[in-house]
Amino acid sequence: MNKRNILITGGAGFIGSHVVRLFVMKYPDYNVINLDKLTYAGNLANLKDIENAPNYKFIKADICDIEVMLSIFTQHNIDGVLHLAAESHVDRSIKDPFTFAKTNVLGTLSLLQAAKECWKDNYEGKLFYHISTDEVYGALQFDNTLFTEATKYDPHSPYSASKASSDHFVRAFHDTYGLPVVITNCSNNYGPYQFPEKLIPLFINNIRNKKPLPVYGKGENVRDWLYVEDHARAIDVIFHKGKVGGTYNIGGFNEWKNIDLIRVIIKTVDKLLGNAEGTSDNFITYVTDRAGHDLRYAIDSTKLKNELGWQPSLQFEQGIEKTVRWYLDNQTWMDNITSGEYEKYYDEMYNGR
Ligand code: NAD
Ligand code: TYD
Repeated sequence: MNKRNILITGGAGFIGSHVVRLFVMKYPDYNVINLDKLTYAGNLANLKDIENAPNYKFIKADICDIEVMLSIFTQHNIDGVLHLAAESHVDRSIKDPFTFAKTNVLGTLSLLQAAKECWKDNYEGKLFYHISTDEVYGALQFDNTLFTEATKYDPHSPYSASKASSDHFVRAFHDTYGLPVVITNCSNNYGPYQFPEKLIPLFINNIRNKKPLPVYGKGENVRDWLYVEDHARAIDVIFHKGKVGGTYNIGGFNEWKNIDLIRVIIKTVDKLLGNAEGTSDNFITYVTDRAGHDLRYAIDSTKLKNELGWQPSLQFEQGIEKTVRWYLDNQTWMDNITSGEYEKYYDEMYNGR
């Protein structure tokens, strides 16, 4: 196996921590450098089990700082980038779009520039892998259509607009300077270590604490859910075998209307807590809809399956039970997050909706 020096950005976040863990454990000959600013969403407790691995190193830094990015590329002789660092929550982007433009667009640009400057004499064996979202494609109607790699970009939220913009910069660096890149657009992820501002961990935690479950609008919006470890596996396959310059959609072929998903979460939490079925149903609280709320996302990941043989490994019922169990078994992880600053966020976000 080749020795490699891999830079993973955003590795202290939800998906990034699963990707870091997979690479550290599966590739002992790779040096895995996790670069993360540790914003509210970054949490080194997500990586406790591998923090002392000999092939792992953590660097606290901001991707927007081009000078620091250049020195990290040079000092560590980086030959592969897995770029996950981002502001990732739609509701926050509605309140503060500038932070999203700065991190997601300018931060990605500064990483691209650092890669270009360090690699310009030799792109051989190098790869800049940009992790993006299906939200760049906009919203589907309630029909059978799916997002494919050919779907036109049509972002609606400040979050998806910033991710779309970063995708365009990545392609521009490939087309203009020949930078070896690959982009993937994935559907909604779920699983352990997700920050509890996102639907699934928020609702599991609220049911446990007997708090209201804020359903936006009528709960009719549809999302396509993928277990996070399946996403990490797809990233591994694409990083090693994907076509340079290419795009791959990653999804679970697993669409759920929010309210139906919420009922599955309630049923699973009640079952695992030993409550009678229906105990927590009355925590459902319909609240004002999210502004510009995309109706439906659904990914067609046939290209990835046909070209590289990847497909989701977990059935949703197994995945959701595993996830609920993990949050209930790791209450200290959750309680450490939901004390302090989080309270302020929660009050601002949900009180008065
Ligand atoms: P997350 O919010 O849990 O983690 C983001 C991480 O990036 C955090 O550790 C944070 O500290 C770090 N970060 C933020 N700004 C930074 C900066 N300026 N410099 C360095 N680090 C910074 O996000 P996530 O859900 O793990 O998503 C990871 C990536 O995957 C994002 O690019 C997101 O757009 C994409 N994505 C997420 C989903 C999903 O369902 N969560 C789906 C598809 C794609
Ligand atoms: P979220 O986890 O924020 O992911 P995204 O907006 O990127 O899809 O939300 C998933 C869906 O759940 C989305 O349609 C919004 C909805 N939602 C609620 O109804 N209530 C909530 O409290 C949250 C956080 C989300």
